[in-house]
Amino acid sequence: MNPSMDWSQRLQLLFLSHLCLTGSSKAAGELCVDNGRETEQVFSVSGDAAMLTSTLVDLNGFNYRSIPYNISWYDPRTGTELSREKGKTLVRGKTLWIFNITMEDAGDYECVVRLPTECYKKVALLIVNHTNPEECGRPEKAQQVLTNTATSFLNCPLSDHIREVDNYSIQWYKDCEPIVKDDPLWNRFSYVSHNAMELLQVEVVTLEDHAFYTCTMTFTLEGLSGRISETINSLVNVEYCLEPKVVEPANEIIKADLGSSFSKMCRVFVPSVGNKHCANLNWIVRENSISKIVSERIFQESQRGNLSEEKEGVWLERSLKFLMVEEEDFYINYTCKVSSDRGSPSASFTLQPTDPNYLFPIGVLLITLVLVFTVSIVVYHHFKINIMLSLRRMFPLLHTNTDSDGKLYDAYVAYPRVQKDEVPREDQPVELVMGLMGFGEDSDRHKEEIC
Ligand SMILES: *[C@@H]1O[C@H](CO)[C@@H](O)[C@H](O)[C@H]1NC(C)=O
Ligand SMILES: *[C@@H]1O[C@H](CO)[C@@H](O)[C@H](O)[C@H]1NC(C)=O
Ligand SMILES: *[C@@H]1O[C@H](CO)[C@@H](O)[C@H](O)[C@H]1NC(C)=O
Ligand SMILES: *[C@@H]1O[C@H](CO)[C@@H](O)[C@H](O)[C@H]1NC(C)=O
Ligand SMILES: *[C@@H]1O[C@H](CO)[C@@H](O)[C@H](O)[C@H]1NC(C)=O
Ligand SMILES: *[C@@H]1O[C@H](CO)[C@@H](O)[C@H](O)[C@H]1NC(C)=O
Repeated sequence: MNPSMDWSQRLQLLFLSHLCLTGSSKAAGELCVDNGRETEQVFSVSGDAAMLTSTLVDLNGFNYRSIPYNISWYDPRTGTELSREKGKTLVRGKTLWIFNITMEDAGDYECVVRLPTECYKKVALLIVNHTNPEECGRPEKAQQVLTNTATSFLNCPLSDHIREVDNYSIQWYKDCEPIVKDDPLWNRFSYVSHNAMELLQVEVVTLEDHAFYTCTMTFTLEGLSGRISETINSLVNVEYCLEPKVVEPANEIIKADLGSSFSKMCRVFVPSVGNKHCANLNWIVRENSISKIVSERIFQESQRGNLSEEKEGVWLERSLKFLMVEEEDFYINYTCKVSSDRGSPSASFTLQPTDPNYLFPIGVLLITLVLVFTVSIVVYHHFKINIMLSLRRMFPLLHTNTDSDGKLYDAYVAYPRVQKDEVPREDQPVELVMGLMGFGEDSDRHKEEIC
């Protein structure tokens, strides 16, 4: 029924649609709108539990949060309501749980949804099969793929039910053999629980791992205990691709000259066997693919693939080209996004203008200045006298005031003192010292001696 129908339409439909008198256990004369059959049939095997879930509540588009309603399940053959009291069935929300299924449980089950003024019904079909003894699993199988030589996972298709039960434990089987936890015989296999998902991890997959895997959940729900199984037909992929790794770009900052052309390669390695088309590379800017931005200035070239020579895998590359870098291209992220079944990594780079380099010339200048200064000081200290002399010679005018430089004599003669009665000997050397500077007043006392 259409949720947008108004009340009169609904009443009309109530009387025009095929009306039904419900079974003996229901209120006499109760009229329920027949919604036909559930499209999905439920398969089970003897010994398992089966769950029939009604779509009536979802279909009729009421606001079930504000309108009170009751769900009941009936066995149409006996007309009896199925409930917890029977010890074999349980109604929880929209689902009828049937425990310890036998072949006799196969058939139709009727779900009735009652609202204060309305009533709807729908029939669900349960098909029961024997377990195939050769396959040790259920006749209906999910298909999952293991990747040759890699580590792969099988996902037990019971996660919807795992969330609903009170307590559970999982047992995996490969063909008919139970996979024993922590058994060296089964060392490549391990049980993994993750977010209400029960996984079987298979390491270093070989072609022999192609088999039927069955996961069996033993559980309790409101005090009743039961068991459900699902079987997976696992195929082993010989051609495969694993998780891609972006080698370039590396979330870096790259300097580019304004007005110059620029290009950056996105390089991705995908470990793989026999497959060159493992992933798609796409350059993204401001959350848009470059290809969608119609620009002649910035564009990406088509993707290229190359089988790797050094290790098993494929190199994929795609370059991003700027014919001419403009101001608006700076300081934004250019991201290379990889899409593949095994993961979607990405990496980006940012362009920055090359700044004119002041540091180098400034450094050179400073070092030169320091060197010149040091050399001058050293030279001055070593050749102080020579410099002064040569300066005087070169600029005699600057030294007109030599008389008043505080020195009284430019030279004096020193001789050894002798006793008054002693006559100085001819051979006694007389020291002659050229006094150029610095004798000052101290030399006063030598005046007489010179005279
Ligand atoms: C649902 O069931 C309860 C208890 O049996 C009853 O009181 C209530 O009226 C029912 N509601 C409707 C909408 O039938
Ligand atoms: C399951 O059982 C139904 C009838 O009970 C039968 O028609 C069907 O072929 C069986 N399916 C398998 C896979 O055995
Ligand atoms: C679940 O199992 C554990 C031990 O196996 C038990 O202690 C616990 O009470 C059980 N819980 C429920 C809700 O049955
Ligand atoms: C189903 O069968 C098992 C073993 O035969 C038993 O332990 C269990 O209590 C049964 N469950 C119900 C709900 O009857
Ligand atoms: C493939 O790799 C070879 C050598 O490693 C190189 O010369 C060639 O250009 C590559 N081709 C492509 C399409 O990347
Ligand atoms: C660019 O990417 C980095 C991380 O790779 C992020 O921290 C930064 O905010 C991004 N900048 C812009 C402008 O989106």
